[in-house]
This record gives sequence, C-alpha cells and structure tokens, in this order.
Amino acid sequence: MNGKTEEQDQRSAFDKASDDALDPRCIPVKLEGPPPVGDAIPYPDYSDDEHDIWKTLFARQQELLVGRGCREYMDGLAMMDFPTDRIPALADCSRSLEKAANWRVSHTPGLLHEEDFFSQLANRVFPSTNYIRTRDELDYTPAPDMFHDVFGHMPMITHRSFADFYQKIGQAAMAAKGNDRRRLERIYWFTVEFGLIDTSEGMRIYGNGILSSYAEVQYSLTDKVKKLAFDPGAVSEQEYDVWHMQPLLYVIDSFEQLEDGFTTWARGKGLLEG
Ligand SMILES: [Fe+2]
Repeated sequence: MNGKTEEQDQRSAFDKASDDALDPRCIPVKLEGPPPVGDAIPYPDYSDDEHDIWKTLFARQQELLVGRGCREYMDGLAMMDFPTDRIPALADCSRSLEKAANWRVSHTPGLLHEEDFFSQLANRVFPSTNYIRTRDELDYTPAPDMFHDVFGHMPMITHRSFADFYQKIGQAAMAAKGNDRRRLERIYWFTVEFGLIDTSEGMRIYGNGILSSYAEVQYSLTDKVKKLAFDPGAVSEQEYDVWHMQPLLYVIDSFEQLEDGFTTWARGKGLLEG
C-alpha cells in the first residue's frame, strides 16, 4: 500500500500492481470493443519453440499435481483434454467449457482492466491470453500468460459449483464500489487464485495461481504457510502481496461451502440479489 491506509488509497489491486510493473504485460488494458469469443478466436502462428515450452510446462506440472491438485481440478484437466505437445486453441477450450458448464472463452490481449474483467465473468465468459511465457520464465512470470489462464484456470471452471461461484464474483464486483470492490478482489485472490481445500485425502489445491506455479504448488502445502478456515468476512479484509509466495492461505471444506458462504456474504452487502 506504499504506506497509505486503505481509506487513502482506493485504487484497485490491478492499478496498484501496474505502479511497480516494469513489464508491459503487467499493465492492465481496457478493451476498445467486444473481444472475440469462442470460434471467432483465431489460432496464432506459434513457433516450434513456443509449442515446446507448453509441452515442457504441461508435462512437469501434470506430474507435480498428482496428490496435490484437488480431485475437481484433476477431473477438469482430464475433461479439457488439452493437447500435450502443442499449444491448445482457445476456440477448442471454449467449446469444452461451454459443454461442461455453459461458460465460454474470450481472447484478451493481456491483463484486463478490472471493469472489463469482472463484466465478462458476470456473463460466464473467461478472458484468456494466448501468448506463452519465454523459456527463461518457466518457473515464474510476473504477468498472466496462457499457461496460467488455460492450464491453471480452465479445468476448475468445468466444475458446476465453482463455475457458478466464479460468475457470482463477477456479478458482485460489478455491483460493488470503492472498498467493497477491494473486498471482492481480496476474496478473488484467496479463493480463485490461491485457495486450498481440506479433503478426506488431505490438503489439496484449487487456486489457479498456485496450480500453474511449479514452486508455489510445493510451498503452499508446507508448514511454512499459515492456513485459516475460509470465512468470507475475514478474507475480504485480508491484504496480500502479489510479488511473493503467499505466507497465509484460506481453506474451504467444499465448493458448496465456498459458493454458499460467498453468496450469503455478498447478499448481506447488497452485492447480489437474494
Ligand atoms: Fe489468474
């Protein structure tokens, strides 16, 4: 927060992140018109090296997630049926998500400005990049790329309860102003991007920011990370730092608990209709 209190600094995490960003991929873009959706998204002319980067990332992460990614994510990964040796087409991904959960994919040129981002979620459209990180960024990239968007996010959207929760985050954010918008961003961060779930088989990951990061998958499940039970009110007030591995994570018991808990919280704030 650069020493400012929340009351003084009402800008979004999207805008604040861009203050520090040297990488143009970190600067949120505003859409100038409706983005292409589904079959209207062209397939770029990727190089052999770019396909090979996807192949390397996919093989490594798929193996790492066995026993670490939650069952719902692993089922979604199987359902998406991504090619392992070449970069998937967003049009194909959109068809899979439409069949599984009535969501579609749009193409975004980069990190989207919050207004465009949340309005697409509210309409069950997931904005995805289609460029892939470079070979020297296999372990870490400061900006979302298609490995994060496609491999990290899309499998969870095949799960009905998560998909409905995800749409409600977008709807509530569109209704929210000022501090409530910031609260929504914190909930988004600690669930969609960095959520854990307690299962009968042990602690598992459902947060897409963790699932697409080689180092954070391993770190998040260690005792170095403080883990608290999910409570939307507490999560909505919890600050976070986007530039380091997360020292604190919130744990849900089920996706129904996540959706119901969020819905009750958002209705209490007047952000969702009851
Ligand atoms: Fe993300």
